[in-house]
Amino acid sequence: MADHLMSTYNRLPVKFERGEGIWLWDTEQRQYLDALAGIAVCGLGHAHPAVTQAICTQAARLVHTSNLYGITLQEQLADRLCSAAGMERVFFTNSGAESNEAAIKIARRFGHGKGINSPAIIVMQNSFHGRTLATLTATGNRKVQAGFEPLVRGFLRVPYNDIAAIRTVAETTGDVVAVLVEPVQGEGGINVPDTGYLDGIRRLCDANDWLMMLDEIQTGMGRTGKWFAFQHGDSVPDVVTIAKSLGNGVPIGACLARDKAAGVLQPGSHGTTFGGNPLACSAGLAVVDTLEKDRLPAHAAAVGELMLTGLRAALSDVAGVTDIRGVGLMIGIELDRPCGELVNRALDEGLLINVTAESVVRLLPPLIITDRQAGIVIDRVSELVREFLGEQAHG
Ligand SMILES: Cc1ncc(COP(=O)(O)O)c(C=O)c1O
Repeated sequence: MADHLMSTYNRLPVKFERGEGIWLWDTEQRQYLDALAGIAVCGLGHAHPAVTQAICTQAARLVHTSNLYGITLQEQLADRLCSAAGMERVFFTNSGAESNEAAIKIARRFGHGKGINSPAIIVMQNSFHGRTLATLTATGNRKVQAGFEPLVRGFLRVPYNDIAAIRTVAETTGDVVAVLVEPVQGEGGINVPDTGYLDGIRRLCDANDWLMMLDEIQTGMGRTGKWFAFQHGDSVPDVVTIAKSLGNGVPIGACLARDKAAGVLQPGSHGTTFGGNPLACSAGLAVVDTLEKDRLPAHAAAVGELMLTGLRAALSDVAGVTDIRGVGLMIGIELDRPCGELVNRALDEGLLINVTAESVVRLLPPLIITDRQAGIVIDRVSELVREFLGEQAHG
């Protein structure tokens, strides 16, 4: 039946029919614990009543008009996001890549406004920013780029978590206009930078009149235990991009900006047909309401800590586990060998997990996960990892 789909994915042999909270059921009515949440999308879990009600009501009233007209729900959602992030203006999109495209366009136009004709953006090794031509160029992974050359000009790459490398670029290149960075790298392997890394970037951006642009597409909306990951520290960026869990599965993203970045895009300079339509914004508002009402960022911080501690305790004596790291409910277990096979093994046992950067088991459960459910994930994941490494040692 999939013969007419382009084979962009090696899909797992399962189809889900229904979901509720952290649980999914497949077409055979088998139940699964979803510790991945659609890769950090369904932060409120599946079929959350607030989102269901909001989109059903809105669908019956008005799905789409156009950005040619005013859209009250868009204004309301922009308001709420700006208060949560300390930003001033929002451009709504349909995906993470488009949110980053908007950020890249803001950076370039900001540069042109200063008389820089060939503006460059500093990006990181092992980063992931999307699959459009500009965002795959910004992405620090050759596999994502291979076969799509010529790449887009205007990106300079440095190692992640290395302030000195950015400083060197500042000293040697005059065309830089911005730094684009994930506060915690997701696809790259749940890489948590040193405390002070973002502050260091902020200082360099201030000193050189660059824009500090954070890709919070995976880390935003409560995932790391704060509304936005940058809020673990004191530095506020100029641009923040989000998507993934903003609509809990309804496609919506956003590029938020403040201060000198806020007014860069003007009528005619950027646009989108669907971005921020009433249906998508109704979902976004329901998500923001629920995160706030149920204090889910703080909950994610507490359960995340419990999971990290639990996993470390359960796997401390296991040779082959090289690191267990994370922030909030963004957790990585790094092994000393490729372990993609663990995804299938977990699936067989009714558990959804992911492996990224070849050897990092990635857990991104819904933010609504309870302590008890987190305990189940700890037990099952640590058993899977133990078994996998044990068999390899004996086989
Ligand atoms: C940090 C980050 N940026 C950008 C993207 C791209 O988002 P999308 O797939 O919605 O275009 C992703 C997706 O995984 C991501 O994790």
